[in-house]
Amino acid sequence: ATGNLVVIVGPMYSGKTSELISFIEIYTLGKKKIKVFKPLLDNRYNETYIVSHSNTSVKAIPINNSAEILPKLDGDEKAVFIDEIQFLDEPLREVVVEMINSGKDVYCAGLDLSYKNNPFKVTSLLMAHADTVIKKKAVCHECGEYRGTISYKIVENGGEIDVGGFEKYIAVCRDCYLKLNEKK
Ligand code: ADP
Ligand code: TMP
Ligand code: MG
Ligand code: ZN
Repeated sequence: ATGNLVVIVGPMYSGKTSELISFIEIYTLGKKKIKVFKPLLDNRYNETYIVSHSNTSVKAIPINNSAEILPKLDGDEKAVFIDEIQFLDEPLREVVVEMINSGKDVYCAGLDLSYKNNPFKVTSLLMAHADTVIKKKAVCHECGEYRGTISYKIVENGGEIDVGGFEKYIAVCRDCYLKLNEKK
């Protein structure tokens, strides 16, 4: 049978990496063979671990692009996990489709929107193929409501690809996002 594709999206701090780690634990507890990947670009804490903002971590294989994934598989993995998909290239879509067609479950996590409110294309593509899309929310940094759907950049610099954490980004709800952008 073919596998399932689960895509976990949401703003920063919404628990995407934590949720990915919970799914990894389910396969690990069941002694299922898995592989975990992360783009090398995300070197925030460590190059060979995926790390959540609450400091849980799991060992991962760092990759530069999606073409590196299939050659690193042994073939008998039950599931493949990929964090920070927004940093990978659009052909990740074909790689993931091939993996689910060949019977593997695939779990992907990443940002749906940049801090400029633009969708990350690779995430949108994977959401289209997903059996399940899990949309996570964060606590809004401005109003405290559990409605945070977008990341807001608190430092001035334009790059839509810009690795960082609390020193650069907050998570906010749509209302607070609009207010913050009006003020500028
Ligand atoms: P993501 O991968 O989506 O950035 P993580 O799984 O790494 O999320 O981190 C989620 C953790 O971040 C939460 O469990 C919580 O401890 C912490 N956290 C920090 N700021 C917030 C916030 N504004 N809303 C929710 N959780 C937050
Ligand atoms: P996180 O979702 O696990 O918190 O990590 C998101 C990463 O993406 C973090 O390194 C910051 C980066 N980022 C961008 O490069 N561009 C953006 O627009 C946003 C919001 C985050
Ligand atoms: Mg994360
Ligand atoms: Zn708010």
